Amino acid sequence: MKGSRAATPGAASGTVGSEEHSVQIEDIRRVGVAGGGTMGFGIAVNFALAGYPTVVYDLTYEVLERTLANVRAALELFVEEGLVTRQQADEAGARITTTTDLERLAAHSDFITEATVERLADKQEVFGGLGRLFGALGRLCAPGCIVVSNTSRLQLSDIAVHFEHKDRTGLTHYFVPPHIVPGVEVAKGPGTSDQTYEIMCRLMRRTARIPIPIRRELPGYLINRLTAALSREALRLWAEGVATAEDIELGVKSTIGFRMPFHGPFGHYDFSGTWRWPDDPAADRRPLPEPSEEVRAKIQARMAEHRPWFHDPDRIAEAAAVRDREFVRRRKALYGIPRYGPPAARNDP
Ligand SMILES: NC(=O)c1ccc[n+]([C@@H]2O[C@H](COP(=O)([O-])OP(=O)(O)OC[C@H]3O[C@@H](n4cnc5c(N)ncnc54)[C@H](O)[C@@H]3O)[C@@H](O)[C@H]2O)c1
Repeated sequence: MKGSRAATPGAASGTVGSEEHSVQIEDIRRVGVAGGGTMGFGIAVNFALAGYPTVVYDLTYEVLERTLANVRAALELFVEEGLVTRQQADEAGARITTTTDLERLAAHSDFITEATVERLADKQEVFGGLGRLFGALGRLCAPGCIVVSNTSRLQLSDIAVHFEHKDRTGLTHYFVPPHIVPGVEVAKGPGTSDQTYEIMCRLMRRTARIPIPIRRELPGYLINRLTAALSREALRLWAEGVATAEDIELGVKSTIGFRMPFHGPFGHYDFSGTWRWPDDPAADRRPLPEPSEEVRAKIQARMAEHRPWFHDPDRIAEAAAVRDREFVRRRKALYGIPRYGPPAARNDP
């Protein structure tokens, strides 16, 4: 196993489990990520930049080669854009190792983020396998290990059905690209202890993320639900012929998108003066009549094409690289240079 304990984040309070079988935040010295795809590589970058030796587990070394290539590209972009120094990037890169052996993941990690494909059977296999291995490795006792899922729509209660220590599970829901977007929804599942939840939130801050507390397990959490409402209406307006997809995109980016770095829907309510309106302010938010059959059919037919709206499907990766650079610049402008690393450097969050 690579990495040294001295290089990892330091002490603070926060425990999980009973006094004799407790996990404290300083026990989280090495982390793991299961699944090295779109989300997994970026989640690994966050932890590695914060000083955690990080192992990424996936099914094949071919996939993991791609994971490492994505890690390198992400770190290079951060250096080019001044988000981290060359030394920080090199050290972070050296902290990330890969494995196709679930046992190595279990033995290496004090905190594991499951980011495998969104299929219940695969997630159950990973959680169940880890549970069995922890038992075999004697790691169901202190200091134990916390395992969280990045699922978008599945329920932790289903995913962790074969994982004995439900108090040590939870949900951290990142947004693509997870090494750039600051916010992460953090939710409890049934059984998640208060201490596990606290450790999850604190780890998010230590990895330069902003934890968004969700009070209960909810498929789609809250941000995807809001995004879905916008997407649903955008599709309907397009299908009704109100505007082209390009013009709807232009409208969103140049108005609500422009404002959103500053305020969301509640802030908008305050600043727009809506709260002063004497009459029913919700009049324009009453449910619309159902879309016509014709509109539904148009939406279904377009979705069935499985074709991007604006980009060449063979050049999506190039477009994503352009987007990532833009996002990094925005992150810097809006939030400043992220401060990764041990709490001692910046007051334990
Ligand atoms: N892509 C997004 O925008 C996004 C955003 C938030 C959350 N998520 C969630 O994150 C998770 C991962 O999504 P993604 O977009 O990275 O998917 P992906 O398909 O890009 O990557 C999934 C990885 O899991 C691996 N995998 C599949 N079965 C496995 C198994 N049994 N054991 C180990 N590894 C296995 C695959 O080889 C692949 O590398 C999903 O639960 C998804 O819902 C995705």
